Amino acid sequence: MVTKNVDVKTRDSKIETIGVLTSGGDAPGMNAAIRAVVRAALARGKKVKGIRRGYAGLLDEDIINMDAKSVADIIQRGGTVLYTARCAEFMTAEGQDKGAAICKKHGIDAIVVIGGDGSFQGARKLAERGINTIGVPGTIDLDIACTDYTIGFDTAINTAMEAIDKVRDTSTSHERCSIIEVMGRHAGYIALWCGIANGAEDILLPERQDDNFEERIINNIKEKRKIGKKHHIIINAEGIGDSYNMAKRIEMATGMETRATIVGHIQRGGSPTCKDRVYASTMGAKAVDLLLEGKSNRLVAYRNGQFCDFDIEEALAMQKDLDQYMVDMAQRLSR
Ligand code: ADP
Ligand code: F6P
Repeated sequence: MVTKNVDVKTRDSKIETIGVLTSGGDAPGMNAAIRAVVRAALARGKKVKGIRRGYAGLLDEDIINMDAKSVADIIQRGGTVLYTARCAEFMTAEGQDKGAAICKKHGIDAIVVIGGDGSFQGARKLAERGINTIGVPGTIDLDIACTDYTIGFDTAINTAMEAIDKVRDTSTSHERCSIIEVMGRHAGYIALWCGIANGAEDILLPERQDDNFEERIINNIKEKRKIGKKHHIIINAEGIGDSYNMAKRIEMATGMETRATIVGHIQRGGSPTCKDRVYASTMGAKAVDLLLEGKSNRLVAYRNGQFCDFDIEEALAMQKDLDQYMVDMAQRLSR
């Protein structure tokens, strides 16, 4: 299942042209991955075509030739130079047939898909239609089960952490409660990491949500006030209630002035951290290596300290949960 230390020279391949696209939510570091795909493929004598706007651009034939210069000066930039999109038509068998036919028309033998689980479902459909595909995990949410790392998470948590530090300053000055909402509609990794890094009093996680969480927070605020805490920081993962209304209810119940701040899409942008640049580059290059070994329908991953790859179907069937030790520890350290 896991491939380690692949010798990239072992097998020849019939692939001459590799396509690359970004799909789903963008993530800082996607440009580093695109650059790596392009430069790694060119270094092996292959041609590269960029497919703009994900599967939507594929169906519109928004396809460009890429050379070494087309990825110059992008490794440090957030966003994706290939743009990204969500595409309902590609969810249908007709859309997928059309996508595969367009690949063949443009001489694209293989595609590297940089995105999340949804995008990998699309990659699988193309593989079934004879286009070799490799997925590279790109999402700030860290919610891809087979991998301990996804492109953009490191930048996003650092962006959010810095924003939360700033809110904390004013929260302390005013002796307020602050609810700070971070991204991750279905995944609490950003909230958990920031909750620990910012020393939050409470962390609301989609994976651990229950009906009594507001009551628990209210009691916690009352307890913390008794022991002299000046502020109360709550990190709320997007998707749990409405932070503004929650702030009003908490203020009413505790008498502590409460404000809500939504960090929002600034978490998805900005210059990628060193880690995101290096890991994204490695994953992009590895995707090309896998294709040129004759592999298809696989995902590049980073697991237990090693870059490796998984069958897409197996990877999509895997489950992932927050580390319970981190969840418990966050609570213990906030006392
Ligand atoms: P992510 O890749 O970040 O999980 P989405 O779930 O929005 O983002 O998926 C991105 C795109 O991937 C969708 O807009 C669609 O074009 C394609 N996609 C998602 N699920 C499927 C599927 N089951 N079959 C084919 N394509 C899919
Ligand atoms: O998947 C990344 C992510 O930023 C999630 O954390 C968030 O819920 C979602 O995308 C928001 O997507 P958008 O605002 O682009 O529709």
